[in-house]
Amino acid sequence: MTTFAAAPSASATKPASGRIFNFSAGPGCLPDEVLQQIREDVWNIGGSGIGILEHSHRGKVFDKVLAEAFDDFRKISNLPKNYHVLFLTGGATAQNYMVPANLKPQDQTADYITTGYWAEKSLEQAKFYGTVSEIATSKDKNHSYIPAESACKYNSNAAYVHYCSNNTIYGTEWHDVVNGQNTWNQRIPQAPAGVPIVCDMSSDIYSRPVDFTKFGLVYAGAQKNLGAAGTTVVVIRDDLATKKARELPLMLQYNTFAKDESRPNTPPVGAIYICGLVFKWILKHGTANRHCLDVLQELNIRKAGHVYAAIDGSKGFFKGHAEPNARSMMNLTFRCPTPELDDKFCKDAGTAGFDGLKGHRATGGMRASMYNAMPEAGCKALAQFMAEFARKNG
Ligand SMILES: Cc1ncc(COP(=O)(O)O)c(C=O)c1O
Repeated sequence: MTTFAAAPSASATKPASGRIFNFSAGPGCLPDEVLQQIREDVWNIGGSGIGILEHSHRGKVFDKVLAEAFDDFRKISNLPKNYHVLFLTGGATAQNYMVPANLKPQDQTADYITTGYWAEKSLEQAKFYGTVSEIATSKDKNHSYIPAESACKYNSNAAYVHYCSNNTIYGTEWHDVVNGQNTWNQRIPQAPAGVPIVCDMSSDIYSRPVDFTKFGLVYAGAQKNLGAAGTTVVVIRDDLATKKARELPLMLQYNTFAKDESRPNTPPVGAIYICGLVFKWILKHGTANRHCLDVLQELNIRKAGHVYAAIDGSKGFFKGHAEPNARSMMNLTFRCPTPELDDKFCKDAGTAGFDGLKGHRATGGMRASMYNAMPEAGCKALAQFMAEFARKNG
C-alpha cells in the first residue's frame, strides 16, 4: 500500500512539505510519488538528458511511455482486445459532440439520462446531431438522486444510451442498491439488447472495479482520477470505432485515433505521460490475492465513510445534498444550517490547511472531492475538523 509523506493534521496550518489537503473537484490532487517522479522526468527522463516535455512524440522515449500507458490501462481493467484505448484532447466536454457525431445518424434517436449538470450538457450538445430522447432525469429534486431502472423509458431503436456515472457537482453516483442497501458497486442502465451504453466516467473511473465489456464507449477527462488536464481517455469497442454515422473531418473520427495509437498529430505528451505514472500507481495497489481496483474501492468507501459519518453524526448541523443510496464516494456535498456558516466553514477550513471545499453554485454549501489520490488521512482530518466546527457553531 502506498504511504503518504508529511500528511497535515486537522489543526495544521502548513506542514513541513508545504503541501496541504486539496479537495478540489478537478484538477484534483495527484499521488505524492507521482509528483516526485514528474519532478525528475521533466528535467531528464530515463537518463536521456532530455525532459519528457521536450521529446519528440515519434521518438523512442515517448514510444515507450505511450506503449506502457496503453498496456497499464488495459491491465487495470483486463480490457479485451476488441476495445481500443484512445488519448484524446478537448476535455470530456468534446465527447459531447464526438459521441453523437460518430455514433448517431441524424434521424435515429439516442437515449440520455440526465442526472446532473454534465449529463445535461451532453444532451444539449447531442441535439446538434438530430433527434435525441431524455429518457429519465433527476431534475425534479435538484439532482439529489439517481432515477430507478423502472423510470428509464428506453427506445429499443436508440443508437446508444448515454449516462454519467458520477455527478461531480451534485455528489451523486450510480450504485447497485440491493435490498435497500448500497453495495457501492457500479449500477449500469439496463439498455435494450443491442443498444450500446455510453458513459461519462470522468469523476469516478478506476475508483472501483469496472467491466468495460458492458459498455460501447466510456470517456473520462484525466484530471480527476487518471492524471492531469490535457487528455481525455476514451475506451471504445471496435465496431463503434469504425461506425460512420455521417461524413466527418478526420480529426473528429474515433477511427483516426484508433488506427494511429492516438497520435495522428502531436498528442498531449505531458498529460499522457502523467496518466502512465498514475496507471502504474493504481496497479501497485494490487496484492497477490486482491485486484488493485478492489483495494481502491475498499479504501474509497472507508475514506467517504469518515466524512459521511461526520455529516450524519452532526445532529442535523450538516445536511447532505445526495439521498443516502446515491451518495458519491468521490464528491461529497453538504451544507451548514446557513449560507453564512457555509462561508465561515470554508474560511476556517482554509486556515486549518484544507483547500477546494467550496460547493458549486448549483448546490451551494460545500463539496469535498476525494479522488483516488486523496489520502485517507486527509478524509479523517476533514471529518475531525467538521465535528469540531459543528460543536463550536451548532
Ligand atoms: C462528470 C464530468 N463530465 C465532464 C466534465 C467536463 O470535463 P472537461 O473540463 O475535461 O471538459 C466534468 C468536469 O468536471 C465532469 O466532472
